[in-house]
Amino acid sequence: MRKIRTYIFDLDGVIVDTAKYHYLAWKNSANQLGIEFTKESNELLKGVSRIRSLEIILELGNKKISDAEFDRILNEKNKNYLSYIEKMDASEILPGVLDALKWIKENDGKIALGSASKNAKPILEKVGLMEYFDAIVDGNDVSKAKPDPEVFLLGAEQTHSKPEECVVFEDAIAGIQAANNAGMLSIGIGEKEVLKEADYVFQNFTEIEIEFFEKLENN
Ligand code: BG6
Ligand code: MG
Repeated sequence: MRKIRTYIFDLDGVIVDTAKYHYLAWKNSANQLGIEFTKESNELLKGVSRIRSLEIILELGNKKISDAEFDRILNEKNKNYLSYIEKMDASEILPGVLDALKWIKENDGKIALGSASKNAKPILEKVGLMEYFDAIVDGNDVSKAKPDPEVFLLGAEQTHSKPEECVVFEDAIAGIQAANNAGMLSIGIGEKEVLKEADYVFQNFTEIEIEFFEKLENN
């Protein structure tokens, strides 16, 4: 194992479970378009940008719309999504995440966010985690989507770290690939069968023992 100084977190599905709000908001848009949208279809949108998400929904429904209608739906979906975000608080932080963030801070590690979401900052504010982050790289800062490593390489740059000193926590296959493409250690949060390409996989943060973090830092 290599010596880790910087911990890069994906947001949706790693720090908070916002997939359920994306689902409700996209379902509303899809139904308006006469497209059936199920929880299974929602899985296809994890880690995927807002624009690409709508393209996938249209592909599922085999439907074409004008550019103006496309933009209108994107705006409406985001407004709807934000109405759910508005009600979020610290109780929505996923189990074990806060302890991990505290341990990293106490041990002088750096913490960065590497998310595709353009709503990352309001979400971190709502759940009260802004103060833990030394750098925040989100959907407003990148031009290339995961599995491109851009988002994580920017996180390394902004924390003055080399890629090989960084570890990435991710719940999406494209995110694990982005971490691997960046030359960083990749830790999957979710199912081993799905996140096969990750260096390590845990179901959630309560499964990661302090000894594991110690090993990352002290090797
Ligand atoms: C990712 C989510 O983190 O952000 C995707 O996993 C989402 O589901 C993407 O589409 C973009 O999010 P937002 O908040 O900019 O619409
Ligand atoms: Mg995610």
